[in-house]
Amino acid sequence: MEKKIMLTGDRPTGKLHIGHYFGSLVNRVKLQDEFESYILVADVQALTDNFNNPEKVRKNVREVVMDYLSVGIDPEKCTIYIQSMIPEVPELTIYYSNFVTIARLERNPTVKTELAAKRDVFGESVTYGFLGYPVNQAADITAFDATIVPVGEDQLPLIEQCREIVRKFNSVYGEVLKEPEAYLSEGKRIKGLDGNEKMGKSLGNAIYLSDSPEEIYKKVMSAVTDPKRIKKDDKGNPDVCMVYYYHKLFSNKEECNGVCSECKAGTRGCVACKKQLAENISEYLRPIREKRKYYEEHPEVVDQILIEGTNRARKKAQETMKRVKGAMKLDYFESDK
Ligand code: TRP
Ligand code: SF4
Repeated sequence: MEKKIMLTGDRPTGKLHIGHYFGSLVNRVKLQDEFESYILVADVQALTDNFNNPEKVRKNVREVVMDYLSVGIDPEKCTIYIQSMIPEVPELTIYYSNFVTIARLERNPTVKTELAAKRDVFGESVTYGFLGYPVNQAADITAFDATIVPVGEDQLPLIEQCREIVRKFNSVYGEVLKEPEAYLSEGKRIKGLDGNEKMGKSLGNAIYLSDSPEEIYKKVMSAVTDPKRIKKDDKGNPDVCMVYYYHKLFSNKEECNGVCSECKAGTRGCVACKKQLAENISEYLRPIREKRKYYEEHPEVVDQILIEGTNRARKKAQETMKRVKGAMKLDYFESDK
């Protein structure tokens, strides 16, 4: 039986952090064995709200790919490619744009949430490019006949919009496109060091996969602890402490139990508690950091992976394009033969 096709990706606007790791990367590493897998670095989409900062997008393409490789995404199993290097995708985007109304895009909850957060970029008036990125994302997915799209909950409206486009397109041109499904990763959502529900670069509360032990130490020292604990022998409540929250992710059961009971009894100092956590996080991330270092020192290896991935991806997208253009009667000098 043919393997189902999985496709997902990230906007290259920053290095990936442990929120990405637990939330999606671990899951992708598992899925790459099960499905024919594609992961795109969405530089075109990143430009829709960073059009005035192309250097940032370009620089982060490599960073994100090195993060992928260092966590165990295997380029032999999974095709990693750069979105802008597949010209069939913008071509498809144009054709799909006939099947989407402006009102429908404006109602898309993901677009709405992002726009509210990006008033500094767009002010009162959104660009055609940003408003239309869900159409471009629908092309990303369908150009590869992907039916499995592992994403977080925030992306569900985009997948729904893609499904709508597919149904409308197929109702006019025949069963040409595959309707994808979102695959909600079982991944955990990780809070920031400051207790914020979300970990993010703009929030300054993230630990990056590429952070050095010194950086990890510094960040852990700034983590939010039980605010009621002032003196070392005050009895604490680990359940309101971010340090304990992270111990549960990075420390073994025995250590966690120790942290919990000593904190409650007022026999553990927060500084020692943080020190131990920083060491455990550093240790946990060591193999990732080491693998990343290899790629940082061998940019030609990363290039080769991207070139090969992009070539493979392009072939796949070209096959789909042929089908699409045939169905749309745009195959001028082929059907006339
Ligand atoms: N929208 C995704 C993000 O913001 C990135 C992305 C682009 C994507 N194209 C995709 C995700 C296709 C899944 C499928 O991270
Ligand atoms: Fe948090 Fe540890 Fe301090 Fe308790 S002892 S408040 S768990 S840092």
